[in-house]
Amino acid sequence: MTDPQSLAPDFARRYGPRALILGGSEGIGLAFAERLAAAGLDLTLIARSGEKLEAAANSITASHAIDVQTLVLDLTGRDVEERAAEIVAAQDYGLVIYNAGATHGVGLFLEQPADRALNLVRLNCATPLAFAHPALSAMRRRGRGGLILISSMSGMAGSGYVAAYAASKCFEIVLAEGLHWEMAREGVDVMCAVATLTDTPAMRRSGMVEIDGLVPMEADAFAGGALDALGSAPIWYAVGEAAADAMRGNRRTANTANASRMSAQLWGIDAERPIQG
Ligand SMILES: NC(=O)c1ccc[n+]([C@@H]2O[C@H](COP(=O)([O-])OP(=O)(O)OC[C@H]3O[C@@H](n4cnc5c(N)ncnc54)[C@H](OP(=O)(O)O)[C@@H]3O)[C@@H](O)[C@H]2O)c1
Repeated sequence: MTDPQSLAPDFARRYGPRALILGGSEGIGLAFAERLAAAGLDLTLIARSGEKLEAAANSITASHAIDVQTLVLDLTGRDVEERAAEIVAAQDYGLVIYNAGATHGVGLFLEQPADRALNLVRLNCATPLAFAHPALSAMRRRGRGGLILISSMSGMAGSGYVAAYAASKCFEIVLAEGLHWEMAREGVDVMCAVATLTDTPAMRRSGMVEIDGLVPMEADAFAGGALDALGSAPIWYAVGEAAADAMRGNRRTANTANASRMSAQLWGIDAERPIQG
């Protein structure tokens, strides 16, 4: 029987020897780390909490004979562009996964401080570019490698309560499409993996409400699906191509109305309440 955790036999040759996971200490990022460790790739994990990084590294090395390095870094920090070049140059990264990027706290744009939206733009737009540039340039020299950006179904349409988040996740989808086209001729695979509601510690902490009939995806199933799809398409949708196509077939205004209603429901917001202040 095939091991459900196993990746394609040539995965390590194509994307090894080491993967960099930005936001790799828990949830989806940790699920990627565990699958890559099982395939024999060494890992560098980045996150803000050193404690969570250490716990992740210990749990991975307890079951896999690979090297795990960790780095504490805030991906919204002002010095991130310089640090990105330095971090990428320090190792031979065959795979980079930009995972950090969820919204923590939602609400009407005018009821949130502007810096919350600007942070999402740093996290989901500026910093992915800062890492993609040196990483893809090194992969191009080697003639192989992969970059995966993690986006969200929220990036498929504007949405009230998460307007800046949805816009920043749309940036990742469109960026990956363009980079996929440019890098394919260099033997380098770029892909955006578009997540649907997924059971992660960050989502549990963010105050989402459980809605009857809405079953979140497991982080491991998401990571496995994305890694299997790498190299075959610019975008992989966790909900499946047919569901993504159906959404694209709708009027954008209808998608925005649905997404806004769903956001309100997910976070237990009264959609009729007027803007405060
Ligand atoms: N979970 C879902 O339902 C869902 C749905 C759609 C899309 N997604 C996408 O999936 C990705 C992962 O989501 P998630 O739910 O696992 O939560 P997340 O907060 O995006 O990711 C958690 C990981 O990222 C790290 N991280 C978060 N902010 C960071 C920062 N500023 N600097 C450095 N590291 C940071 C966290 O560690 P520290 O906190 O220690 O920094 C942790 O390792 C995101 O891109 C999100 O948009 C998730």
